[in-house]
Order: sequence, then structure tokens, then C-alpha cells
Amino acid sequence: MTINFEVNGARRIFEGDPFKRLIDVLREDFALTGTKEGCGEGECGACTVLLDGRPVNSCLIPICQADGHRIETVENLGIPERLSALQKAFLEEGGAQCGICTPGMLLAAAAHLKAGGKADDLSIRRALGGNLCRCTGYQHIVKAVQKAAKAPRKPRRKKA
Ligand code: FES
Ligand code: FES
Repeated sequence: MTINFEVNGARRIFEGDPFKRLIDVLREDFALTGTKEGCGEGECGACTVLLDGRPVNSCLIPICQADGHRIETVENLGIPERLSALQKAFLEEGGAQCGICTPGMLLAAAAHLKAGGKADDLSIRRALGGNLCRCTGYQHIVKAVQKAAKAPRKPRRKKA
């Protein structure tokens, strides 16, 4: 089956098993290894990507469901030389330790802030409720999102 979709602003075609998981297509077929697998069962949120701007667990999505849709992965947020405000804040506030949950946390937080979500503690914890972290105790992550929410908005750079 041929799947036409958009990944990080670029049009992509996938030919193959329509039930291959989105996470596997991203990592194996498009070398976007920023997306991490934790549980593989829809419980931890480590594999979060944005589908038409909404956070989804890419371990639960067969690639056929991405046909005609827009996917964003953590690679679209920034690059090491030019981190997004959110990435910088995670770095500065200790919001990332082992890093397995971090791409998913970043994308869930980015979707929350982009949608105009509030930056109070409870709103951020609710927005990140589907993303588990075994390392940070969450407080550093919440602080990082609050810091990023106060940062001046810059236009996002699209890249393939
Ligand atoms: S790896 Fe997808 S939710 Fe845990
Ligand atoms: S930083 Fe290790 S699971 Fe969150």
C-alpha cells in the first residue's frame, strides 16, 4: 500500500505494510530516531509525535492512519545549534535526565503551548498526563515548560 503523508513539513511516501507502526516507519524508514519507544503498549507516551498538531502514541498508530495527515517529530523542534525555547528550558531546568521520555514530553508540551494552554502547574501536569518520566520527578519538567511559556515566540523553522 502507498501512504502519502507529511513529516516535519516535507511530503513523504511510504510503500509497504499498511499496519507497520508509525514509530517504526519514522525510525526505520525515515531515520527519525528521536522518537523513542518505551512500553510499546500506549501507556508511557515516550513515542509521542504530533498528528495534525495533536499528541498521539506512535506505537499504537498503523501507518495507514497517517495517510493524508501531517506528522511532527522532535526533530522538527530544533537542532543542537539552534534549540527551541522549550528545548533550552528543559536543558537549563534539568527537565531531561536519561532522555527516554524527553522527545515525547517536548512534543506534548509544545502542542499544549501552541494551543494557548495555560502555564500553571496543574494545566501543564494535565497536558503531560499521558507522558511518564522515571527520572525527574516531573517538577523540573513543569518548571521548564513554564520557563518556555514566558520566552518570546520565534517563528518555527520547518525542516525535512
Ligand atoms: S512506547 Fe508508545 S506509549 Fe509507550
Ligand atoms: S528523563 Fe528518564 S524517563 Fe524522563
